Amino acid sequence: MKTQVAIIGAGPSGLLLNRYLAKHGIESIVIEDRSREYVEARIRAGLLETQSVKLMEELGVADRLYKEGMEHKGIYLQVPGERHHIDFEELIGHTVWVYGQTEIQKDLDAACDKAGQEIHYEVTEVALHDIDSDHPSVTFVDKDGNSQKIECAVIAGCDGFWGPSRKAIPDVEVGSFERVYPYSWLGILANVAPSTDELIYAWHPDGFAMHSMRSDKVRRLYIQVDPNDDIANWSDDRIWEALAKRMELTGWELKTGEITEKNILAMRSFVSGKLSHGRLFLVGDAGHTVPPTGAKGLNSAANDVRFLGEGLVDFFNKKDASLLNRYSERAKETIWRVTHFSWWMTTMLHTSGNEFDNQLQLSQLKHLFKNKALQTNLAENYVGIR
Ligand code: FAD
Ligand code: PHB
Repeated sequence: MKTQVAIIGAGPSGLLLNRYLAKHGIESIVIEDRSREYVEARIRAGLLETQSVKLMEELGVADRLYKEGMEHKGIYLQVPGERHHIDFEELIGHTVWVYGQTEIQKDLDAACDKAGQEIHYEVTEVALHDIDSDHPSVTFVDKDGNSQKIECAVIAGCDGFWGPSRKAIPDVEVGSFERVYPYSWLGILANVAPSTDELIYAWHPDGFAMHSMRSDKVRRLYIQVDPNDDIANWSDDRIWEALAKRMELTGWELKTGEITEKNILAMRSFVSGKLSHGRLFLVGDAGHTVPPTGAKGLNSAANDVRFLGEGLVDFFNKKDASLLNRYSERAKETIWRVTHFSWWMTTMLHTSGNEFDNQLQLSQLKHLFKNKALQTNLAENYVGIR
């Protein structure tokens, strides 16, 4: 196979980049090791910044988002006995959208189908070659067991934190930074009526709790647990009790119902030393990851897609490599901003069992409830004004 850009990974990064390039007349081939059904059903992100929504609109994949998504004007932050609304619209005139990553994947797949773009799902043995040259290539075995080779001018590594692209960069660990947090999230999906109009982030001495949603009928809720905890220790009743206790507020009731999915997720911050090498460029979780507390993972992936997309448009359509050569530098400015914001939200809201730390966190949150400048700072970072 021959193309201009070989894209490894059909997550949000890979498919958004594919659509961005197609819009600008640039050919790409996407390969993915999982099945289409698996990727479309993978429960992950749920909150979109203004910029990500704009990108989806530009790419013609925002119709269902605008119909079925929920526009939120702010979030609630809570400490025991006090829930405070941070009103993004009033503070900075911007909003965010709740729309599941599962739905984004379906919309992107549907757009590819409509454009006649085949995504090669269920491939194995993916390997990158000659990334230092002008003629790199990607080899893989397709789902029918045939060996395949994509010859291209550029490889986009959109294969997430565990994929092969980052590992193909020599000495990539030099200048890479990682922090693994001493807590995890137990996340559930539940068929329950709404208990809140907007997301609740709650600090509690037992640990963080969060109330998010996917639609009018589906809630997404999280509680902080020990990273060594086992999901088998958490019966549905125990989960609902922990959620109700950590988010308790006089006059407010957490509605409970059928839990359809539950799992425990590790939390880490990671920034790769290099986001590019020769003709290979890392996009999204392949190059950087954040803990989910600030809802930045998918949004910063969309930001990378815009920067790489702009660079590739100049490179292929104007024969000008200057913007492409600055991809890493441009993307990293945002990456470090979201890395700081996610770290700040995470460390402010998760407890460590240390009473001194608890008091510092409470002081910080109560100060934030009163201080408009701090709220504005949170709002700008949350909605993605950079
Ligand atoms: P991925 O989604 O990881 O996609 C990479 C793709 O590459 C995958 O489909 C994978 O199967 C494929 N792949 C891997 N190896 C290979 C291979 N060898 N060959 C071919 N393909 C391969 N972000 C937000 O912005 N807002 C949120 O509210 C939010 N909430 C989250 C909640 C949770 C519980 C979690 C876990 C994450 C959340 N995120 C959130 C983060 C967000 O989901 C990720 O940042 C986002 O999925 C990154 O997209 P990506 O395409 O870069 O990587
Ligand atoms: C989610 O809906 O899954 C979600 C929303 C906001 C976050 C994290 C996760 O900060």
